[in-house]
Amino acid sequence: MNILVTGGCGFIGTNFIRFLLNDKDFAGHIINVDSLTYAGNPENLVDITDNFGEKYTFIQADICDQEHMAQIFDDHEIDTVCHFAAESHVDRSIVAPDDFIQTNIVGTFNLLEISRNRKNQLSRFHHISTDEVYGSLGKDGFFYENTPYQPSSPYSASKASSDHLVRAYHTTYNLPVTISNCSNNYGPYQFPEKLIPLMILNAIAGKSLPVYGDGKNIRDWLYVKDHCSAVWEIIQHGKEGETYNIGGDCELENIRLVEMICDIIDETQVRRATGSCKDLITFVKDRPGHDRRYAIDASKLKNELGWSAKTTVETGIQTTVRWYLENKNWVNRVKSGAYREWIKQQYK
Ligand code: NAD
Ligand code: DAU
Repeated sequence: MNILVTGGCGFIGTNFIRFLLNDKDFAGHIINVDSLTYAGNPENLVDITDNFGEKYTFIQADICDQEHMAQIFDDHEIDTVCHFAAESHVDRSIVAPDDFIQTNIVGTFNLLEISRNRKNQLSRFHHISTDEVYGSLGKDGFFYENTPYQPSSPYSASKASSDHLVRAYHTTYNLPVTISNCSNNYGPYQFPEKLIPLMILNAIAGKSLPVYGDGKNIRDWLYVKDHCSAVWEIIQHGKEGETYNIGGDCELENIRLVEMICDIIDETQVRRATGSCKDLITFVKDRPGHDRRYAIDASKLKNELGWSAKTTVETGIQTTVRWYLENKNWVNRVKSGAYREWIKQQYK
């Protein structure tokens, strides 16, 4: 297998590559293509380059650059695509949607066109998507694979658009696609703009913990490694043309999650004698169009492919807090932007 992983220097892409090489003893070749936006950090994979050089290649490229991407498909005889690359942060999409339209829609279209023109060499195009395409739930109910799309933010609308394109390329051109729509991920290497790493790092630093609105919005949390195992299962055994929901059956109100993080950090005593981290919680202005509740029904994936999440939220959050405490160097370099300088020296 020559697998093109797009966005492999981001949060989930990094974990996926590490999962394939460290946990799965992957036998093929991984070609990681990432344009290295603010969210892409190739330092995440330095040890992978050192230890698995014969199985792993990194190329800095923009998925919107058709010529370059086509060259990569040909040079590396790509037969499998696992497409993570995206602009992923909802708040950024509200302030500046342009890049979301370019990367998430045009970039995906680009990869589909290149794949269509090489259909004979391609055995799978797997598209990574989100539960946010389904919109917001009320108190009850779940998102199923056939729930109608009703995206609320420019981010989720751009992901919905890319899902439709991927599906259309199966229906019209018989491209061997699969799609997965996953709930909120957390774990190591997540950029500290997202709720969990932001709260961990602010709490450690004694800074305010900004909770949007009344804090009662619900997200369905999944440890990133469980997302990676689901994606790998779908790539290997998922049925062409099918969509699979991925989720951990773990609904939590934001405020409850932030309190859990506070309790764990209080126990570590990194802020000894300064009171509980909960004192830092501050309710702030709500996100415009803030979806109230997400909840994934992942029965199809469980029943048809035998997948299940292995990490409980208690263990997962503990592990994540510990990872951020133990990787101060990564945190400092990401927060100070030092990794950007390193990228300039390595790749320019
Ligand atoms: P991320 O923002 O951490 O990483 C995105 C990566 O894509 C970065 O490395 C970035 O440099 C790269 N990228 C962006 N634009 C690019 C371009 N034009 N060309 C090449 N590379 C580009 O995102 P993430 O959280 O790892 O999410 C990965 C995928 O999973 C996205 O498609 C996202 O929609 C989806 N997803 C994320 C979550 C979550 O909770 N984080 C949940 C469900 C689905
Ligand atoms: O559901 C899957 C989606 O999860 C992915 O598709 C997105 O790429 C990913 O970013 C994530 O989107 P969310 O908007 O749900 O994640 P975020 O971490 O930004 O916010 C989680 C919840 O916490 C949400 O209800 C907003 C709230 N929040 C977020 C931040 C950053 C706060 O209350 N305060 C904050 O400072």
